[in-house]
Amino acid sequence: MTITCNVRPAAFLVSRGEIQAAIEKHTTLISEVQRGEDLYRTSLGWLDVGTQKIDELVHVAKHVNQIAEVMIVIGIGGSNRGAVAALEVLKRTTTSPTTLYFAGDTLSETRLADAMEVLKTKSVVLNVIAKDFNTVEPGITFRMLRSAMQAKYGNAYAQRIIVTGSKGSGQLYEVARQHGYTYLPFPSDIGGRFSVLSPVGLFPLAVAGVDIRNLLDGAYAMQQRVRTEQGEDNPAILYAIFRSLIRKKGIALESLVTFEPDLQHFIRWWIQLFAETEGKTDQVLFPVGFSYSEDLHAVGQYVQQGPRILMETYLDLQYEENGCVIGPSKDVVDGFDYLDDTPFSRLNRTVYQAALQAHSDDGIPCIELKCDSFLGAASLGGVFYFFLFTAYLSARLLGINPFNQEGVEQYKRNMYAELEKPGYEK
Ligand code: PA5
Repeated sequence: MTITCNVRPAAFLVSRGEIQAAIEKHTTLISEVQRGEDLYRTSLGWLDVGTQKIDELVHVAKHVNQIAEVMIVIGIGGSNRGAVAALEVLKRTTTSPTTLYFAGDTLSETRLADAMEVLKTKSVVLNVIAKDFNTVEPGITFRMLRSAMQAKYGNAYAQRIIVTGSKGSGQLYEVARQHGYTYLPFPSDIGGRFSVLSPVGLFPLAVAGVDIRNLLDGAYAMQQRVRTEQGEDNPAILYAIFRSLIRKKGIALESLVTFEPDLQHFIRWWIQLFAETEGKTDQVLFPVGFSYSEDLHAVGQYVQQGPRILMETYLDLQYEENGCVIGPSKDVVDGFDYLDDTPFSRLNRTVYQAALQAHSDDGIPCIELKCDSFLGAASLGGVFYFFLFTAYLSARLLGINPFNQEGVEQYKRNMYAELEKPGYEK
């Protein structure tokens, strides 16, 4: 699968000349990012997916498949969104005796009760994922479900707990060692939102039956391309440069639009990746995302005639066609005869073109990321890698640290004070 990046001619706010000049201006930085900057070496464990080992993950996953109908994956933010997204995209092509159930990404009591019900009625394994085992949502969900596991399985419960975490005092490695849980590493040089192609995302996906070797191979092929090609021919460079320039023209939001409902969680993964990576300066695009054609009936009006603050990125994953053709209506006059004999897939392609044309004609800067022959795990691996790399490059073009997220701590301090966490009292 290859990705091409097309800047629509109607994205007149940024000219070809400006794009070329910006690429030239940032040549050194772009090359450093492609190699991996020494300054961020401790956060770049994801940059070379070729080094990822999967034998142990596959081995543990097979064991889970033998003992569990359901694996409850406990994690939040970067620790779970990648697996949730991948599973939604690949669910039609994977089979497994073990279903994944996601928990620990909310403080909703109702959702906790749902997870408890699963635990009560099915044979279960827990996979708790936390880079820093301080986050309340996964931490307290793990406690509640762990207690229920102890009650259900007695001392044998420990064989049904798999932790993906860090080493260090109070971290999951130590907890695993003390209590006999299975340990998988959350690499110290990979942050949550960059972790989908590490054990964080790969292990749950292996349990769900995804061919994770294939996923990594696709990511590696994309890595080879975006880390070596120079200039505009490299879709990652063109996309990142365009984003950096458009913000300076008064555009405040980037909307990732897709035409496959199975990509809704992928949109959420993408939003988290860009929001936490770049949201540290006022010169940055706010990432949002919509699923067309449905959302054309919701936000489409605003996009078409609302304020000119938005750019759109059309993620065009060209799925294999099923050969479904629209047949004639036998008895009912329904007004759709003009579609007789039309391949169903043509409708989605047509609405794609129609929306793109209407929006760009009306002055919305639009960019297309076209992925030919989207065929499953390998293709998805490529798309994941493409965005990981562009998020890193985009943040560096803004001159910011892509790998911290200090702003997230502010609300946590208020919450901890209210809950009287030691050291945070009011
Ligand atoms: O991308 C990130 O770093 C964050 O979204 C984290 O993944 C999220 O806050 C969860 O952190 P942790 O795994 O430490 O519980």
